[in-house]
Amino acid sequence: MLASGTGTILEALIEHGLPVEVVVVDRACGAEKVAERAGVPVARVERTRFDAGFDRDAYTDEVVAVLERHHSDVVVMAGFGTVLGPSIQDRWAGRVLNTHPALLPSFKGWHAVDAALAAGVKVTGCTVHVATLEVDEGPILAQEAVPVLDGDTVETLHERIKHVERRLYPRTVRAFVDALDRAATGEGE
Ligand code: GRF
Repeated sequence: MLASGTGTILEALIEHGLPVEVVVVDRACGAEKVAERAGVPVARVERTRFDAGFDRDAYTDEVVAVLERHHSDVVVMAGFGTVLGPSIQDRWAGRVLNTHPALLPSFKGWHAVDAALAAGVKVTGCTVHVATLEVDEGPILAQEAVPVLDGDTVETLHERIKHVERRLYPRTVRAFVDALDRAATGEGE
């Protein structure tokens, strides 16, 4: 699992009982503490640059190396703040999952909640999808709508969305992993 934020989505994934080999973080963050408390190995692949000189491909290779060391089958992003380069897709195409705090294809990008609020929509939500090279693209696995209420701030709206993500994402990841397991064992053939 990959995370950069407060780690509440990560916590929900771990509490759901999903088998987590390692949590990779790109900075010091709450998610790191969540993983430590749960006794899950944490690897901080520190991102030292946020400017145009950031070597995204080299950074991605470092993340890939950590995930390979832990024999990861599926990569689950839980609020990871760095867009990864092609090598993650070379290795785990179709097996990188993400949750996004809007109803894709609306409001892509890092400021999805702000953008929905600014647009004045009355309904937004969250989307669980397979991540591809294009940010916030890829096949949609699950979506749920969340109302925007009068007086909402980015914080109140995001919290309402995250409340849904904490339920929807673990279940969707579980179903995805179970389907992979069934395919691997040839069940249902
Ligand atoms: C979630 O809303 C997720 O969709 C977004 O980042 C947020 C992570 O929340 N990509 P938290 O740090 O786990 O509380």
